[in-house]
Amino acid sequence: MTDTKIALVTGANKGIGYEIAAGLGALGWTVGVGAREQTRRDAAVTRLRDAGVDAFGVPLDVTDDRSVAAAADLIAERAGRLDALVNNAGITGDRPQQPSSVDPTIIRTVVETNVIGVIRVTNAMLPLLRRSASPRIVNMSSSVGSLTRQSGGYGETTTGPVAAAYAPSKSFLNAVTLQYVRELADTNILINCACPGFVATDLNGFRGVRTPQQGAATAIRLATLPDGGPTGGFFEDAGVVPW
Ligand SMILES: NC(=O)c1ccc[n+]([C@@H]2O[C@H](COP(=O)([O-])OP(=O)(O)OC[C@H]3O[C@@H](n4cnc5c(N)ncnc54)[C@H](OP(=O)(O)O)[C@@H]3O)[C@@H](O)[C@H]2O)c1
Repeated sequence: MTDTKIALVTGANKGIGYEIAAGLGALGWTVGVGAREQTRRDAAVTRLRDAGVDAFGVPLDVTDDRSVAAAADLIAERAGRLDALVNNAGITGDRPQQPSSVDPTIIRTVVETNVIGVIRVTNAMLPLLRRSASPRIVNMSSSVGSLTRQSGGYGETTTGPVAAAYAPSKSFLNAVTLQYVRELADTNILINCACPGFVATDLNGFRGVRTPQQGAATAIRLATLPDGGPTGGFFEDAGVVPW
């Protein structure tokens, strides 16, 4: 086993995930580029390597048990452990998502990727994370998953469009994250949620106002937390996001 830190970033072929991989790589980490489609995965790995990053491709569809198990095997073979898992892959799902008319299939599809996908990948990677001296898990959430912000509570501004699949999927992800924090409280694994802000990516038709690089910053910070750093938190660049 090498001393170089190793991370897996899911959905790293583009958008914020790509920039998380690039940012960790720039810090000297080896980065597994989790991506489900070979051409897009290879292109991202090539781009990262050209930028000097020690990147390698990890075929990974977070909705597929066999794909996720194979990804864990690949990382075990390549590095023998995992220092940071960044669960970044996510979808918004088809629209419309007005709660009064949404097709339940859309909700199931979004939850399968944004929540169950995170659980599937996390559980497959936990044995590798347990072999790290300083393991970190970062779940890419969104402030639209904040019930406080959705309700306009405590003076918070309501964010994002009405979306019965996407926004609650991130609330669900936040809730699941806290269950991991509780279960793993007696380990050294630091587990946190990140919100990247409103970032111009495919996810929102590039309507976001921040760059993917800016959106990657909080996740990179949480993936590289020092020992004794926070766990069980929800963070954005400006600080703590209310649950
Ligand atoms: N953009 C924003 O303003 C914003 C705000 C808050 C939170 N977020 C969150 O940030 C994360 C990244 O979003 P983004 O804006 O960078 O979006 P993006 O550019 O659309 O990237 C999403 C990534 O997830 C991957 N993905 C989707 N389903 C997958 C699956 N089943 N298996 C593996 N990979 C899968 C995509 O792969 P393909 O290329 O193969 O589709 C892509 O690499 C998401 O969790 C999103 O909810 C984004």
